[in-house]
Amino acid sequence: MKRRKRVAILTGGGDCPGINAVIRAVAKKLINEQNAEVIGFKDGYHGLVRNRHRKLKYTDVSGILTLGGTILGTSKIANPYRYAVQNGKKFEFKDMSKTVIKNCEKLKLDCLVCIGGDGSLGIANRLFEDGLPVVGVPKTIDNDIRGTDLTFGFDSAVSIATEAIDRLHTTAESHHRVMILEVMGHNAGWIALSAGIAGGGDIILMPEIPYDIDVIARMVRARNKKGRRFSIIVVSEGAKPKGGNVVIKRMVEASADSIRLGGIGFVLGKQIEDATGLETRAVVLGHLQRGGSPTAFDRVFATGLGAKAGDMVEKKKFGYMVGLKKGMFVEVSLKNVAKGSRTIPANAPLLKVAKAVGTSFGV
Ligand code: F6P
Repeated sequence: MKRRKRVAILTGGGDCPGINAVIRAVAKKLINEQNAEVIGFKDGYHGLVRNRHRKLKYTDVSGILTLGGTILGTSKIANPYRYAVQNGKKFEFKDMSKTVIKNCEKLKLDCLVCIGGDGSLGIANRLFEDGLPVVGVPKTIDNDIRGTDLTFGFDSAVSIATEAIDRLHTTAESHHRVMILEVMGHNAGWIALSAGIAGGGDIILMPEIPYDIDVIARMVRARNKKGRRFSIIVVSEGAKPKGGNVVIKRMVEASADSIRLGGIGFVLGKQIEDATGLETRAVVLGHLQRGGSPTAFDRVFATGLGAKAGDMVEKKKFGYMVGLKKGMFVEVSLKNVAKGSRTIPANAPLLKVAKAVGTSFGV
């Protein structure tokens, strides 16, 4: 009797709305059309190193389309090539990649589907180069993965940030205040730019365009003079002043990318208040952008990505991830992802759009 195909799914890195929709689509496609057996590794690459997994039956992936987070659990720290083991207060790092390969061989895996951001997909690429059959699905609210025009989770994060701006607008106007909303995005300003446009932000600050605090103060004062006695500023957590540095919230020693950004909103708020004398408040939206149910767009998009990944498993298109280019699902080499993150290019059409409606980038 022919052995059933066995495919494992893993979710790595920060969670985001739509991961469960991808898990559901990959698993349903494999079970329905390829009679495959599907398993899920627990807590990202931790599960792969420690061989912790569970079977995903059809009923396990039914009813999870709208659910936030990931039913498999995830980790932003676990990396088989630099696996952190705590020794007292210190961490020691071990290369566990050979254990991982052995675990997968023992399980007789035909493919490992990695749903992850640039870090997790970079690891997936190394595992592929070391002999594992891997297919990737790009995931992050930051929208900063190379080789794809869009990542699922981004639309949901932008919707949440936009609602926050709308709410800040009414209170800013009532109190004649400057309101700052700090959004996530890591080293890319996609969330700030999109939510800033959607919410009609007066000033949008992004990592790609270092700002000048004097320009921001001038603009806020000028609006005040014209009778617009409030201003809305949307700032990306990775934004920095010209010649200056990002604001770091914490360092996570065990993580390969140890810097966690955050706090620029408060720094900026103080500077604006000092420079203009106008009352200023800052709000950090934080992990609210990653939690909860995906938007309708993200549900459709994530389902499409999952179905395409299922196709790629069937075709044995290993070492590739599914991407979106000009509205079409495409197969992109995972080597691309390892080259770094996708920030906003200077010629991005959205920058022109924001400028057209008088939005300042603080320069
Ligand atoms: O990559 C997703 C992301 O939410 C970034 O936008 C943010 O910088 C980071 O993760 C936050 O990480 P953590 O969950 O470790 O605080």
